[in-house]
Amino acid sequence: MTTATPDILELRKAFPALQRLRRGKPPIYLNNTCMTLRPQVVIDALRRYYEEFPTCGGGRSEGAKKLDNWFQDELREHEVYAREAAGRHIGAGSADEVVWTRNTSEALNIVAHGLKLEVGDEILGSEREHNSNLVPWLEAERRLRARAGDPELVVRRFFELDDDGGFDLARALAAITPQTKVLALGHASNLDGTVIPAADIRALSARIHEVGGVLVLDAAQSVPHRKVDVRDLGVDFLAYSIHKMCGPSGMGVLWGRYELLEQLDPFIVGGDTIADTWQDRVEYKSPPGRFEAGLQDYAGMVGAGAAIDYITDTVGYDLIRAQELALNTRLTERLAPLQCDHFWLLGPEDPSRRGGVITMTSPSGALINAIERIGDEEANIMVRRGMFCVNAYLHRRFDRVGSSKNNLRASVYFYNTLEECDAFADIVERVVTNPLDHFDDE
Ligand SMILES: Cc1ncc(COP(=O)(O)O)c(C=O)c1O
Repeated sequence: MTTATPDILELRKAFPALQRLRRGKPPIYLNNTCMTLRPQVVIDALRRYYEEFPTCGGGRSEGAKKLDNWFQDELREHEVYAREAAGRHIGAGSADEVVWTRNTSEALNIVAHGLKLEVGDEILGSEREHNSNLVPWLEAERRLRARAGDPELVVRRFFELDDDGGFDLARALAAITPQTKVLALGHASNLDGTVIPAADIRALSARIHEVGGVLVLDAAQSVPHRKVDVRDLGVDFLAYSIHKMCGPSGMGVLWGRYELLEQLDPFIVGGDTIADTWQDRVEYKSPPGRFEAGLQDYAGMVGAGAAIDYITDTVGYDLIRAQELALNTRLTERLAPLQCDHFWLLGPEDPSRRGGVITMTSPSGALINAIERIGDEEANIMVRRGMFCVNAYLHRRFDRVGSSKNNLRASVYFYNTLEECDAFADIVERVVTNPLDHFDDE
């Protein structure tokens, strides 16, 4: 029985990786939180760069000076198009507010390194920030400690979430003090899929601006799945990864309000970031150029433009949200009843609060191993196990009740089907209901 809608089946045909077979079976790709698959249109865009205009770029935006040769002119058209697309779909005021990065991590590092923080300033986040939105701020803390000559100085603070992982606006607001100069938040969790509601982000934006701080949004898990509008949310900086939304590997975006990008110190500097140099000084380009050091991934930019068009125009966020909800509802209906003292789900039980993510955990690594191994061997299922870069949160919450390490995550995207969810759930059910068969699966 085929229960996927015809639209989804049609869309799947555009993904060459989904047409592959191993041992006569197609892949079941449930690791979309990490990286998504790519449709032919994105692969074609990458090929087009290498086949037609494989040269160095330099066109930063519409206003940039036109280059003078054939290949560069063609590349520049694509660069400008892609940068505008990368800004337009998140509501940016101008393409000049869009900085190409390799990924969300690099984008957040640029902000954490570039803000002019002073001793006494504080940085706030939730207890469950991804390492990419935690470590750059811990490094900022380390630099301020060194400057203050105080190795104990607390610069980065965090507020708690609800017990089920949900966001608590009152707690977040209460944690903002007159010293808070940065509020760095993950918009949607890669662990349990919970999302901070738009009204809460607007309230936080108002409060952080009152105390003279900035709101930095890690949108790695939101922009690929829902319409995000930076102006409507009132954020100051936003980071997302193109490879999590059908685009090329190693492409990401830092968006910032232009006046704030202008005040940010450049991080990685050198070729292409400068307007001019002398033996003893440098004059940097205006943003975004000053943040894009050296030759860039031009094929990636061309591919990014194609991926954004594909997600926004061909697929559409309405279909993405509806399909993710249907899939996660099926997974939840199948897996929630299996919960017992050796297996349970993380995050809220209501799938509509978890986007396309479902994470399960067990005090026994053997069961998690068995699910992953059997899934791979019997059904080509690809999931992710581990700590999902939220080690700090898992240690804090779960070391008391068992190991924080024995987790397995399935994450869907619009091209997954109910049949794929069932194939995965069948294996989880088999393992969880026969635990003794798997205890030596270490
Ligand atoms: C919430 C969140 N933030 C940041 C990142 C880092 O993204 P990237 O690896 O593309 O830099 C991820 C990656 O999974 C993520 O889920």
